[in-house]
Amino acid sequence: MDSIRIRGGKPLNGKIEISGAKNAALPLMVASLLTEETLTLSNLPHVADISTLISLLCQHGATAEMNGQSVSDGCSDGRSLSITADRITSTEAPYDIVRKMRAGALVMGPLLARIGKARVSLPGGCAIGTRPMNLHVSGLEQMGAEIKIVGGYMEAEAPAGLTSAEIRFETVSVGATENLLMAATLAKGTTVLENAAKEPEIIDLIQLLRQMGADIEGDGTERLVIRGVDKLHGARYRVMPDRIETGTYAIAAVITGGKIELTNTRAELIRSVLDILVEAGADVVETENGLVISRSAARINGVDIMTLPYPGYPTDMQAQMMALMTIADGAAMITETIFENRFMHVPELARLGANITVHGHSALVRGVQKLVGAPVMATDLRASVSLVLAGLAAEGETVINRVYHLDRGYERLEEKLAACGADIERIVAS
Ligand code: UD1
Repeated sequence: MDSIRIRGGKPLNGKIEISGAKNAALPLMVASLLTEETLTLSNLPHVADISTLISLLCQHGATAEMNGQSVSDGCSDGRSLSITADRITSTEAPYDIVRKMRAGALVMGPLLARIGKARVSLPGGCAIGTRPMNLHVSGLEQMGAEIKIVGGYMEAEAPAGLTSAEIRFETVSVGATENLLMAATLAKGTTVLENAAKEPEIIDLIQLLRQMGADIEGDGTERLVIRGVDKLHGARYRVMPDRIETGTYAIAAVITGGKIELTNTRAELIRSVLDILVEAGADVVETENGLVISRSAARINGVDIMTLPYPGYPTDMQAQMMALMTIADGAAMITETIFENRFMHVPELARLGANITVHGHSALVRGVQKLVGAPVMATDLRASVSLVLAGLAAEGETVINRVYHLDRGYERLEEKLAACGADIERIVAS
């Protein structure tokens, strides 16, 4: 297994181009199952989850081309992806794929809406919590689907098609909102989703669906109204910038006391993160094409954060901000309200000298003067990158193991950081 070696302590200075958003691209790709025509997505990030989803869509019968080349084996290194699902030849989303990438379960709504059948593996537990599927299942049931759990799979059928419903989510869920939104575009009648997620990735999906001929109102609000149509058609769409990648590199500038220009992105996508960074002592200048971020003060101030659904502070930026707070002046209370088990980075940050105590859903971070490099290991995507950030600030050498987590969601991470002066390299396992 590959690892990443960082010799820390260097301020990062330079420019980083932000890639397309993985978490937007995945549901946009799944939307291709709603039409016989071709969907073309540009600004696609080159990360492992995209390749995994291409394999899944192809095994449902879709064909995919990346920059004009066939990519049915799932391997991809391009930017523009065309997917054509003119025939659905299999309705099964196998355990092997959904277990690795929960977004695979998003095919359930579109398959039910298009052909009235889906057999989708339950994702199972994952490192950051149990992550159930109850909201997806009960929403689709309210739309007329019959769903049984058999042998670890959700076996769903709607022989007469899906019908409209008024669905109120008891918890805000990005995935359940996306799944039901896609299903409702082809259902009979008008579906209302209450307490829907408002994340920018949902707005990206609504904009694409609209271009495909869907009738949806309520973008960016917690009430979405979808009038079902008979058919959707093909479209061309540009994937939004990755707000989590934007926030992660913003913290790289602040944690190392450097100055980085982030391009191909938008500050408004990470307003809650930038607000905290400014409180902590960062300077942010918004530009036409992104932002420039630097650290104005010699030391960082400790600032409390609580993760919340958008527009609140994102859970996917919790571990990175914790890395920054480990070297703050004073203490910071970090409260995680979205996932129940999202502090696995704490013992690893402690290996670098951080002083963190976890009490239930909150972690009290008492800032230390400096971190010192050590070998560490990560259990999920955002935890891994928090260790990279801590390693960039730490004195000496940090080796991060299990980098396959990083490869799921960060495109050319070492290259982007090295271009700003980081001493970072990938050690390829022989
Ligand atoms: C998406 C993001 C992930 C991010 C998360 C929260 C993608 C591919 N992934 O994940 O990076 O961390 O949003 O912003 O976009 N829940 C239920 N029942 C359900 C579904 C969810 O109880 O049926 C709970 C979850 O356990 C969690 C909360 O709802 O506590 C939010 O999860 P959700 O928004 O669904 O996360 P994902 O869509 O899986």
